[in-house]
Amino acid sequence: MLKVVVCVSGGGTNLQAVIDGVQKGSVTNVEIVRVISNNKNAYALERAKNAGIEAICVSPRDYAGREQFNEALTREVDAVSPDLVVLAGFLVMIPPQLIKKYENRIINIHPSLIPSFCGTGFYGLKVHEAALARGVKVTGATVHFVDEGMDTGPIIMQKPVMVRDDDTPETLQRRVMEEAEWIILPWSLNLIANGKVTMENRQVRVSE
Ligand code: GRF
Repeated sequence: MLKVVVCVSGGGTNLQAVIDGVQKGSVTNVEIVRVISNNKNAYALERAKNAGIEAICVSPRDYAGREQFNEALTREVDAVSPDLVVLAGFLVMIPPQLIKKYENRIINIHPSLIPSFCGTGFYGLKVHEAALARGVKVTGATVHFVDEGMDTGPIIMQKPVMVRDDDTPETLQRRVMEEAEWIILPWSLNLIANGKVTMENRQVRVSE
């Protein structure tokens, strides 16, 4: 059984996709043991509680400085001894000590086809605004391992989404979630939990 901690900051629709996958059996060998948010008002915390999953808030506001917050976040992740940490819309820089401790055991979902529209400043609607401004005809989502960079870790899975001429950032964001994020994050998790994902020289191989 893969013990998973999910870190969230907002609405939690990606968390919900994972919860639903576990409940309906399309995601096997996974137990979400804790949900952590930096935002006490994150609806994602409600989603966790509704699913009977422990949900806690670790907010930077409650700590004197970044180092103290980083230590607290690392402590709360360690407390449940997860095999994998999933970042599902977590808008906080991951502490270096966490990345080191959970090397190749942290994954993130990003709402573009990395390496496009990613890195510092590319989050939420900004990603889709940039895609529309550039005039790309195809965008999508990416699940990747987290390394010390921002959206620079080895790619596990990607799914394309066609851009429509009448798209707004909001309509595009919604379709990327529905047609890509909510599919590839649970799918990736299921593959990892069932030993189907390997990596060599930062190249990820997936065996179905
Ligand atoms: C998603 O678009 C995800 O790709 C990005 O942040 C958003 C989180 O949405 N990292 P939700 O909280 O999962 O609904």
